[in-house]
Amino acid sequence: MRILVTGGAGFIGSEFVRSTLGGELPGSAGTRVTVLDRLTYSGNPANLAAVADHPDYRFVHGDIADPVIVDEVTAGQDAIVHFAAETHVDRSIVSAAEFVRTNVLGTQTLLEAADRNGVGRFVHVSTDEVYGSIEHGSWTERSPVAPNMPYAAAKAGADLLALAWHRTRGLDIVVTRCTNNYGHYQYPEKIIPLFVTNLFDGRPVPLYGDGRNSRDWLHVSDHCRAIQLVLRGGRAGEVYHIGGGTELTNRELTGRLLAACGAGWDMVTRVPDRQGHDLRYSLDITKIREELGYEPRVAFEDGLAATVAWYRANRPWWEPLKSALVPS
Ligand SMILES: NC(=O)c1ccc[n+]([C@@H]2O[C@H](COP(=O)([O-])OP(=O)(O)OC[C@H]3O[C@@H](n4cnc5c(N)ncnc54)[C@H](O)[C@@H]3O)[C@@H](O)[C@H]2O)c1
Repeated sequence: MRILVTGGAGFIGSEFVRSTLGGELPGSAGTRVTVLDRLTYSGNPANLAAVADHPDYRFVHGDIADPVIVDEVTAGQDAIVHFAAETHVDRSIVSAAEFVRTNVLGTQTLLEAADRNGVGRFVHVSTDEVYGSIEHGSWTERSPVAPNMPYAAAKAGADLLALAWHRTRGLDIVVTRCTNNYGHYQYPEKIIPLFVTNLFDGRPVPLYGDGRNSRDWLHVSDHCRAIQLVLRGGRAGEVYHIGGGTELTNRELTGRLLAACGAGWDMVTRVPDRQGHDLRYSLDITKIREELGYEPRVAFEDGLAATVAWYRANRPWWEPLKSALVPS
């Protein structure tokens, strides 16, 4: 099988590429992978160093919104797994244009090329944030999208475009929506790597508002295994939820991170809440469990301990990235 992975130099995409070429995902042996990545601030060739010399791997530096390059790289592919996106909510609140350009126009460009080039399957990777916020219970795949953040609105637009391409053109599209990912190689602007790397350096960590915002945590390896199940067995035109089964408020998460780094609450600085901050996200994952046999395997305690250990051991990976961030 030949697959195009967009955004393969980012956090989740690189895990998918490494584990595909490493034969760790069910049915991935013999897969040939082309990565298309623009290498924005969050794309990092170092994330793919482990596979750089693999005979079944090719890297193309380019933009998913560029129809010429997208046409070239989609030709001859059996499938596309589409991760490329602008992903940081806080950046989208300050400046949303790039989110619309990449997440909406870029997805549209890929869909057109997939159709033109007869690509067999298109997995569009999306997020629980498209649903807005839910105080009690969980969303099912039939819940309406109601995004609140520019990032989530752009992802929702892309999801709807993808599903429309299935309806109108019969393209073999599957949309996945997952909860908050964590694990190694996550860009250190996101809460877990930001907090642990601050704490390693004896710097305070910024907790938004009262810390009551609640998220489900999904280890990146569980996410990638679920995407592989969807790539191989998901039904065209369907949405599948992917979750990790550990719901924590940001305050609870902060407590775990402080404990993992041997720090106390005196290291926490309260900062004004994110504008329009969604209180809670929660996905019902019954569908992927029953149809494709997915269960998260990584217990949060183990995944978090391994993640903290990885950041402790890989300072040369994250230190240059952090020095480019505004100090917090
Ligand atoms: N991280 C999470 O917790 C999470 C949760 C739900 C959904 N998702 C989704 O998963 C996908 C991957 O997220 P991530 O956390 O790995 O993101 P990331 O920011 O770490 O990586 C994004 C990658 O996309 C590339 N990219 C950005 N714009 C591009 C463009 N115009 N053309 C080509 N490449 C481009 C970047 O260079 C980078 O390699 C995204 O679609 C995101 O919406 C992530």
